[in-house]
Amino acid sequence: MTVYFIGAGPGDPELLTLKAARLIGACPVCLYAGSLVPEEVVAIAPADARVLDTAPMTLDQTHAEIRAAHERGQDVARVHSGDPSLYGAIAEQIRRLKADGIDYEIVPGVPAYTAAAAALGQELTIPEVAQSIVLTRMSMKSTSMPEGETLENFAATGTTLAIHLGVRALRDIERRLTPLYGVDCPVAVIYRVGWPDQLILRGTLSDIHAKVRAEKITRTALILVGPALSGSHGFPDSALYDPSKPHVLRPRADAGP
Ligand SMILES: C[S@@+](CC[C@H](N)C(=O)[O-])C[C@H]1O[C@@H](n2cnc3c(N)ncnc32)[C@H](O)[C@@H]1O
Repeated sequence: MTVYFIGAGPGDPELLTLKAARLIGACPVCLYAGSLVPEEVVAIAPADARVLDTAPMTLDQTHAEIRAAHERGQDVARVHSGDPSLYGAIAEQIRRLKADGIDYEIVPGVPAYTAAAAALGQELTIPEVAQSIVLTRMSMKSTSMPEGETLENFAATGTTLAIHLGVRALRDIERRLTPLYGVDCPVAVIYRVGWPDQLILRGTLSDIHAKVRAEKITRTALILVGPALSGSHGFPDSALYDPSKPHVLRPRADAGP
């Protein structure tokens, strides 16, 4: 018996991996985070599977379901949004599984930030503009952030920030990032990427808060901040396909066999 932590992607069932779909379709027990995983995704579970939305459950209750499945010798599909390694709260589940000697495996999924970049039609790493992405979140009422992991510290690099769980803190984000990125720094807020009601709002650090408030968006949105989002064409080509920079898979044309 194995517990499969499955990344279901951002919402669009077509963004499930083949492995995720196969496992959800085979496991007799399916526990899914219903606040972020659409029912279409778990609709592929076997007709007689025990399918439970864990949104209203506690950790002890979900673990009790897993233990009961373990006693019955039934595999469990534990379905999380995006990729389970990001804010999936799987570490505390794994700790309990290890204590009980229950096997597990993690199946990666498409995270919201890559789906958001795709929805924007943009690369997040632009040559000589931004070559790193900071995946972070706002703390709000949830788990506090470790000391040192502040927006200001991350912003000091000037690179692209992907801020999770922060749409209600946009005014605070604007206030704290403006001194480091400038008022005209581009910001994109991507609401429910991959869902039928997906919405993309683009603006700057000076106006994005008003745009989001006008749309009454209060949850399930990713905030991308940084100059890489400008869509400007004034950056150099990368070295990857540069004819003057041969590499082992693309030797210089005159190098011979
Ligand atoms: C608990 S975290 C889960 C992140 C997820 N594991 C991932 O890999 O993207 C929830 C936050 O991720 C972001 N998020 C998750 N799914 C999203 C979606 N479909 N559209 C926009 N943002 C999403 C939002 O910032 C949301 O508040």
